[in-house]
Parts: sequence; structure tokens; C-alpha cells
Amino acid sequence: MLAYNNRKTLSMNSARRWLQQRVLSPIVDCSYIVMSLLFLWGFPRWYERFTEWHYRRQARHYDQSVIALEGARYAQALEAGLQALSVQPKRILDVNTGTGFVAQKLLVLFPEAKIVATDLSEAMLTQARQRSPHIEFVRADTGKLPFADESFDLVTLHNGPPYLAEMARVLRPKGQMLIAFTSGARVPRPLLHRWLSVARRFGQVEWRCVGDGLWVLVTKATPTNHDT
Ligand SMILES: C[S@@+](CC[C@H](N)C(=O)[O-])C[C@H]1O[C@@H](n2cnc3c(N)ncnc32)[C@H](O)[C@@H]1O
Repeated sequence: MLAYNNRKTLSMNSARRWLQQRVLSPIVDCSYIVMSLLFLWGFPRWYERFTEWHYRRQARHYDQSVIALEGARYAQALEAGLQALSVQPKRILDVNTGTGFVAQKLLVLFPEAKIVATDLSEAMLTQARQRSPHIEFVRADTGKLPFADESFDLVTLHNGPPYLAEMARVLRPKGQMLIAFTSGARVPRPLLHRWLSVARRFGQVEWRCVGDGLWVLVTKATPTNHDT
């Protein structure tokens, strides 16, 4: 009976993992790209309200129900993207930090850097503060960051809608922004290429698919005399 129950639990976990990896994550990644385009085209309000409501419900279980369930796949593309960085950052901003998963990784990689991490959801930030008491967590909408222009060397975003213009604004020239998605390789190509062409407005773009995931690295252009 015990063996039967164990087998049943195992197959339920595999089914949940399959659903998460093959169905939910790709849909969510596509919707992030669509959302970021919608933002660029001017429809921010209703999305913010939905986000706060959604993550208030998820926050306490996010690490178990999403990060642990995805396993190594969760950060596969993110980690590959981190290896492609060429900046040695002194000031780092992790936007849409959620429960602080990426901010904690950055702290290990760049122990000397000042790390600030932001999110719209206070419930997610509460979990993040418990994970990493030494990181400064600030409630902020990535579309309206409360930081001066050019104040960070590196801006990171993992699994969230990328507000490229605002992320680029707070990045210093030649600074880098790294955007990674767990299952971004499944984003339809026309949509991805449209979005990459928008990213090229902000600097030089490098990108790779890694397994099911995707990373995009933008090195911010230096202003020319013509721009100033
Ligand atoms: C899928 S979670 C990812 C969290 C984290 N980056 C990770 O990889 O574990 C997306 C997060 O983005 C946040 N978010 C969504 N839209 C946002 C916005 N406009 N400004 C700030 N945070 C936002 C949500 O509150 C949520 O915590």
C-alpha cells in the first residue's frame, strides 16, 4: 500500500512538473514579451494591478511551487548569461526580483558590489528579505524606477516583462543589462525578433537559447556628440 502511495505521489509530481515546464512556463514567457511590448505601446495600469493581486497569492509558496519544481532548468539560461557578462559591476540592480533568487546569486558572484533589488509585489519582497537580509529590497515598478539616470553598472531581470527603456535609463554607458527566461526558447520567432530589434535601440545585443531558456545581453551604447 505504501509503495502504491509512493508511486502515485511520484507520478503526480512528474505530471505537475510536465505541466509546469511544457505548458505553463512557455505561456508565461510569451506573455512577458507581449506585456513588455504593450508597455512600450502605452497600456501599463491594468497589468500592474493584476501583478500585485497574482503574486500576493503566490508569494509564500513561490520557491517551492515554481523554483524547486523547475529544478536546475529554472536558472539554466540565467547562469549561462551571467557567464557572458564582461562588466565588473560595483552597483547592481535586479528588477522583478520576486523572492530574491537572482539577487542572492549576484551577491555570491559579486560579493563586493552594492546590490539593490526591486519588485512590485510587497508580498514577494517579504520573502526576499527573509532569504537575503543583506540586500536592499525596494518596492518599485520596473516601468518607473526610483533611481537616477546611469546609476548602475549591471541591471538584471529574470522571468519578468522587460521594460527596456527604463532599465537602460538607469544603466551607465557601456553597462550591461542581462535578461533571461527559463523557457524563452519557445517564444515564437517573429515575436522574439520584433522584441530584439527594440532591444537594439539601447545598445549592442547578444543572445542565446540554452536548453528551453533564453538569455539576452544588452551592452549600453555610449552617447555620441550627436545625441547630446
Ligand atoms: C515570475 S516572478 C520572477 C521572480 C524572480 N526574478 C525569479 O526569477 O525568481 C516575476 C516577478 O516580477 C514582478 N513584477 C511583474 N511586473 C512588475 C513590474 N512592473 N515592476 C516590478 N515587478 C514586477 C512580480 O511581482 C514577480 O515577483
